[in-house]
Amino acid sequence: MPKILIIDPDPQTRDALEPLLADRDAQIADALDGARGLELAATENFDLVIAELHAPEADGMQIVERCGESGIPVILVTAFCSAEDRVAATRAGASDFLSKPFIPDQLQLAVSKALDHSSLVRENRDLREALDDRLRLDNYVSTDPRMHKTLKTVRSVAPTRTTVLITGESGTGKTLLARGIHGASDRASGPFVEVNCGALPENLLESELFGHVRGAFTGAVKDRPGKFEAADGGTIFLDEIGTASQSLQVKLLRVLQERQLERVGDSRRISVDVRVILATNLDLKKAVEDGDFREDLYYRINVVELHVPPLRERTGDVVALAEHFLTRIAADIGKDVRGFSSDALERLCRAPWPGNVRQLENVIERAVVLAEGSTIGIHDLPPDLSGPTPGRIGPESLLAEDAHLMPLKQALEGPEKLIIERALAHHGGNRQETARSLGVNRSTLFNKMRKFDLL
Ligand SMILES: Nc1ncnc2c1ncn2[C@@H]1O[C@H](COP(=O)(O)OP(=O)(O)OP(=O)(O)O)[C@@H](O)[C@H]1O
Ligand SMILES: [Mg+2]
Repeated sequence: MPKILIIDPDPQTRDALEPLLADRDAQIADALDGARGLELAATENFDLVIAELHAPEADGMQIVERCGESGIPVILVTAFCSAEDRVAATRAGASDFLSKPFIPDQLQLAVSKALDHSSLVRENRDLREALDDRLRLDNYVSTDPRMHKTLKTVRSVAPTRTTVLITGESGTGKTLLARGIHGASDRASGPFVEVNCGALPENLLESELFGHVRGAFTGAVKDRPGKFEAADGGTIFLDEIGTASQSLQVKLLRVLQERQLERVGDSRRISVDVRVILATNLDLKKAVEDGDFREDLYYRINVVELHVPPLRERTGDVVALAEHFLTRIAADIGKDVRGFSSDALERLCRAPWPGNVRQLENVIERAVVLAEGSTIGIHDLPPDLSGPTPGRIGPESLLAEDAHLMPLKQALEGPEKLIIERALAHHGGNRQETARSLGVNRSTLFNKMRKFDLL
């Protein structure tokens, strides 16, 4: 809905304009003098300003100039519109100049032109911001609209010390995102310390994170600071947090609440200034319900959640990432490989990618090495890439084991969800195309996606 500001001391102007703008479904605000108008224009995002040339306080020319600085188009209007005024207004950058009373067609044309310009400016700005994201998040490649939303959130939380929880399957790019957040924060020059909580046994993990003092346990021959202390002034990234034991969860909660910790075997408190980012590929909410994960810790870490969707749901990203890896790897190994054959690209887009971006990266590396010409062909891709085809699986595998013992409608939900998931992945998440190819309308698709938790 476009937002239009009318600046005119004569309230009749608004009365005259409103019906003419009615079918644009615009949101209209007005100001009776130029100063008030500029104040409004500075605080709200207008798509268009229509201003009286002789407005008091700040006249039309001043309004054109000021709005021009922020890229808002201005249509000037006045009762007596001289040729000189027209020339001066055009020079100043007014989008149009109209005489009162308005000629409806002329007004419509002027408004359309100005709004088109306005949306171009906005698109440009959005693109620039997306580009900024890309630059700041180093090599984070994505064309997926959901990822752009995620990157937007990243940009707003990065400068703060807010705890961030990143969820997503293995290999989707969680570590890269965590590094990106650190890199875009004012702690970027501080350390980034990554700990995989799933890789160490419980007792070792505690001393790894919090450190220990000499004699704390057999083998503790001297004092050793932990990773939290090592990350002081920077960021600690705790991967696979879903596997943390109950006792570790209690300790983590304390560090998060008080930013203080005790080394294992010591009662002295050590303060740390650390930003905490966590990641998991488990459903933590469910772990809380099952009693495996503390609810208080869950709420403490789930301040901002960033979800990275699996690659099979981001077909657009498959192409963007494949090209990105191709360029990088070809340059690394000094081979002149520049693109993909269309059938190779199609196979890449259709593959199920259980290992996500990491798997794609490996596949491209192998392909670049194998490629004989300057293009990667289908033979350079692993033959099992497309995964078992539905024909080979047979319909049985789609059904729950006790499908014959439940209501038919319920039994069909599993296959239905899978089919929708596949179709969405195939169409790069585009709902309109997915709905069309499945032969349902968009609202049916939307309702089913909501039912199956696919939104
Ligand atoms: N959007 C992206 N742009 C460029 N490279 C990416 C992107 N996403 C992932 N990668 C690359 O894919 C590989 C896997 O990513 P990463 O290690 O961040 O995944 P992860 O989710 O942390 O995996 P795990 O769950 O196994 O820890 C890395 O080499 C990373 O650089
Ligand atoms: Mg990781």
